[in-house]
Amino acid sequence: MNLWNFALFVTLVKGWVVNHGTTCTLYPESLTHHGQEVDDSPSIQEAFDTCGTNGTVVFTDNVFHVNTVLNTTNLLNCDVYLRGELRLSTNIPYWRTHAISVVLQDQVTAWLFGGTNVNFYGQGGFYNGQGQAWYNANRNESNQPGRPMSMTFYNSTNLHVDGLSVIQPQFWATFVWASQNVSFTNLFVNATSDSKWGTMNCDGYDSWQSDNLYIENATIITGDDCIAAKGNTTNLYAKNIYCEGGTGITIGSIGQYPETPDYNMNTTFENVKIKNAMDGAYIKTWQGTRIYTPSNGDWGGGGTGLVKNITFRNFEMENVGLPIQMSQCVYSANSDKGCNTSTLQIEDVKWENIRGTSRFNVASSIYCSDERPCPNITFDRVNITSVNTTRHLPYYGTDVQHQIFQCTNILGQNGSGIPCNQAAPSNFSQWIYGNVDSSGLATLT
Ligand SMILES: *[C@@H]1O[C@H](CO)[C@@H](O)[C@H](O)[C@H]1NC(C)=O
Ligand SMILES: *[C@@H]1O[C@H](CO)[C@@H](O)[C@H](O)[C@H]1NC(C)=O
Ligand SMILES: *[C@@H]1O[C@H](CO)[C@@H](O)[C@H](O)[C@H]1NC(C)=O
Ligand SMILES: *[C@@H]1O[C@H](CO)[C@@H](O)[C@H](O)[C@H]1NC(C)=O
Ligand SMILES: *[C@@H]1O[C@H](CO)[C@@H](O)[C@H](O)[C@H]1NC(C)=O
Ligand SMILES: *[C@@H]1O[C@H](CO)[C@@H](O)[C@H](O)[C@H]1NC(C)=O
Ligand SMILES: *[C@@H]1O[C@H](CO)[C@@H](O)[C@H](O)[C@H]1NC(C)=O
Ligand SMILES: *[C@@H]1O[C@H](CO)[C@@H](O)[C@H](O)[C@H]1NC(C)=O
Ligand SMILES: *[C@@H]1O[C@H](CO)[C@@H](O)[C@H](O)[C@H]1NC(C)=O
Ligand SMILES: *[C@@H]1O[C@H](CO)[C@@H](O)[C@H](O)[C@H]1NC(C)=O
Ligand SMILES: *[C@@H]1O[C@H](CO)[C@@H](O)[C@H](O)[C@H]1NC(C)=O
Ligand SMILES: *[C@@H]1O[C@H](CO)[C@@H](O)[C@H](O)[C@H]1NC(C)=O
Repeated sequence: MNLWNFALFVTLVKGWVVNHGTTCTLYPESLTHHGQEVDDSPSIQEAFDTCGTNGTVVFTDNVFHVNTVLNTTNLLNCDVYLRGELRLSTNIPYWRTHAISVVLQDQVTAWLFGGTNVNFYGQGGFYNGQGQAWYNANRNESNQPGRPMSMTFYNSTNLHVDGLSVIQPQFWATFVWASQNVSFTNLFVNATSDSKWGTMNCDGYDSWQSDNLYIENATIITGDDCIAAKGNTTNLYAKNIYCEGGTGITIGSIGQYPETPDYNMNTTFENVKIKNAMDGAYIKTWQGTRIYTPSNGDWGGGGTGLVKNITFRNFEMENVGLPIQMSQCVYSANSDKGCNTSTLQIEDVKWENIRGTSRFNVASSIYCSDERPCPNITFDRVNITSVNTTRHLPYYGTDVQHQIFQCTNILGQNGSGIPCNQAAPSNFSQWIYGNVDSSGLATLT
């Protein structure tokens, strides 16, 4: 900063928010504290309080220390420019006791953000969740209580998020909740662990109770769901998506709560590349009975609802464990408890032009519960070849040397376009670790 700027800074500064009319420009406290890491959350909060209605909030190209929760909701006609780094503290005990509830699965968030007619531009800036501390603390477990989502976009209408980068998210990177007309363009998420512990639960983009969502251009490198449309996500259109690692693109998981049925309709995922992932393009529901499943936050199952009019189009898979799947007991499969009991109806789901390679001898496993067989499930130009077949190598540890398409309870199977050549067993969760044999069991490798 030159002297002239500094003089301006001193005269107009309000906290560390420089306020010119309706524009609030943020500078970090560390600039005047000899680089000391002072919490910038109070000034960030103040900038949104001052300029969050009919105004602009600018994060300058500096490092901002975010040591306490941010709640910047109910913005109105506000533009946000993120030109610096938001560096979240790794004070795990603090976040676990102070992060803000997002209700779903008793989960929490570090930053609750939202409003009406809001634009968020990540102009070279980024959100650094410093997630390595969380990955190490999590030790490959699932949904640890109090582990915060990086950013939750809540109660928003006409929200546009362009160029947001989230690196090393603590948990889910972005979550859209109770909102409508929300678009994300040019989203970048990278959760990569440098320790022996993985990035479980670092989803890229999740949505819940939201309508009319749009995603164009996303690169998501992670250890869990790339994009997950959870309960009551309707009219989501996502295109030009690159997913690496993790568990692919999904509708779900849904059907967790009996008191709030999940209606997921009118969703299209188009032009997607999925590389080195456990899953590809799929739908996952809980079983029809309530089972204590501590791995997923709390009790779950018994939820009902409807999944209808879902399209997965133009997918390229590369080394994907389960490229195409429907499971109706994703968290109870291995215990074989109630897999056939789900009353969550799934219908009218299309996979069109899906190509590439599977890790094992399974291209697809489509399982609908005995309670709710599925009409209108179709494949059109699905061509998945296993990695080994492309190398003229055999599959190991199995008596099946061709590509398997498993089906159970698909109505109108003959007209479905699915080359069903084996029954889909009721013991598949979303993960398989080896080839499948002719009894339908996956070998563990
Ligand atoms: C914000 O702008 C809208 C119109 O653009 C106006 O109706 C409203 O009064 C303004 N609010 C404030 C607090 O200035
Ligand atoms: C967040 O801020 C809004 C005001 O914008 C307030 O109504 C709400 O109670 C706050 N939520 C939490 C969890 O602090
Ligand atoms: C949600 O946003 C609307 C404005 O669109 C506002 O009136 C309402 O108070 C907000 N609800 C909460 C819980 O913040
Ligand atoms: C993702 O993060 C890891 C670890 O920081 C880094 O090595 C890798 O280059 C990043 N990937 C991209 C595409 O930025
Ligand atoms: C944790 O899970 C990741 C995959 O997400 C795996 O690569 C890693 O080996 C696991 N770590 C341990 C110690 O089991
Ligand atoms: C998405 O990426 C393509 C290719 O880089 C680019 O042409 C297009 O403008 C991008 N879309 C948006 C909304 O930025
Ligand atoms: C979904 O919306 C319906 C009403 O359309 C409601 O009854 C149900 O509780 C909602 N479910 C969730 C998960 O919000
Ligand atoms: C799904 O799309 C159709 C056609 O655009 C529309 O009529 C219907 O209302 C949509 N359903 C939902 C739940 O938004
Ligand atoms: C199905 O959803 C797509 C958007 O994903 C929409 O364009 C189409 O109109 C819907 N079809 C019906 C029959 O609702
Ligand atoms: C299947 O889909 C077609 C066209 O999308 C529709 O006309 C038909 O009614 C659907 N059948 C069922 C059983 O849902
Ligand atoms: C399916 O993909 C394989 C490998 O990419 C290719 O050799 C084969 O020609 C394709 N089949 C069809 C029917 O497109
Ligand atoms: C594919 O072949 C390689 C090399 O022989 C072998 O190590 C691997 O286990 C095979 N993969 C499967 C899924 O059978």
